Amino acid sequence: MFGTTTIGIDLGTANILVYNKEKGIILDEPSVVAVDTRTKEVIAFGHEAKEMTGKTPANIAVIRPMREGVIADFDVTSGLLQHIMRRISAKESQLRKPNVIVSTPSGATSVERRAIHDAVQAIGAKSVVLMEEPVAAAIGADLPVEEPVANTIVDIGGGTTEIAIISYGGIVSSTSIRTGGDHIDEEIINYIRKQYNLLIGEATAERVKKELAYAPIPHEEIRTEIRGRDLVTGLPETITITSSEIQSAIEELLERVLEAIRMTLEKCPAELSGDIVDRGIVITGGGSLIKGFQEWLVSKIDVPVHMAPNPLESVAIGTGKSLGYIKAMTK
Ligand SMILES: Nc1ncnc2c1ncn2[C@@H]1O[C@H](COP(=O)(O)OP(=O)(O)OP(=O)(O)O)[C@@H](O)[C@H]1O
Ligand SMILES: [Mg+2]
Repeated sequence: MFGTTTIGIDLGTANILVYNKEKGIILDEPSVVAVDTRTKEVIAFGHEAKEMTGKTPANIAVIRPMREGVIADFDVTSGLLQHIMRRISAKESQLRKPNVIVSTPSGATSVERRAIHDAVQAIGAKSVVLMEEPVAAAIGADLPVEEPVANTIVDIGGGTTEIAIISYGGIVSSTSIRTGGDHIDEEIINYIRKQYNLLIGEATAERVKKELAYAPIPHEEIRTEIRGRDLVTGLPETITITSSEIQSAIEELLERVLEAIRMTLEKCPAELSGDIVDRGIVITGGGSLIKGFQEWLVSKIDVPVHMAPNPLESVAIGTGKSLGYIKAMTK
């Protein structure tokens, strides 16, 4: 079934990565497309399209076709995948009809899984295998998922947080919540609007998050300037905000992630509980890069918390490496 060329795709809400065993990561772009609103043709994707966010005329729409971990706009996602295939096969002709392993969130419905399968099939893939995203994340973070021990992974992405305990190559218990980095950006936008009557864009909110967002731990306050549109005067305005403000604005959201982690650990079979105390949990995904997150989690759940070596790449690497773990896959 698996021919010479196999690629792994992490079709993430925020970022799409393609991994090939021989070459490593061969594509890493934001999950953003710019389309012509009349012809529906894809004009740009990835970094180029993300740059266009909030700045385009009416005939161009900048779209994020994946929301909350699943396909929200099927046609645009298919167009995006075709664009990606053209890009990577232009460099490597043997990538033209690859076997594809693609990750799907563990909380995806069968209809959502089917949509992901069909969109990948449509790019001319020789075969398509769907794989549980937390298993891919765990393999990519170098956890020995095949062993009879509790491998606990927490993947905080753009649209979802997936928590899973994996043993013998399969998921023993898992939780998936539709809360991730995108929702943190939304909280920041809401806070600035309520507090300062200032409307800021998604890109600004994301920048603020990366620069200033702290988990609820004591820290030395930092600040940054942001620009937006004053909702009262309608004019551009610049304000300075602090990390403490952002910290309290996003606290409730992080608590939600913590609750989901607690719930999953509580659901863990007794035989594996001891393992978690010894081996701890591994956090990955872009959301795990929130400053102080690891430290905060340790203080809340009392088990060791390790950071994956490559939080933004774990899932893609895991899909590509998973050939040795066929058992762990579901079709
Ligand atoms: N240094 C950072 N600090 C805080 N957040 C970050 C940082 N770097 C990236 N992020 C956030 O991580 C998220 C993207 O993470 P990731 O690429 O793991 O998501 P994804 O796999 O595309 O989404 P999903 O798994 O939900 O489909 C974005 O919300 C991004 O803003
Ligand atoms: Mg992800």
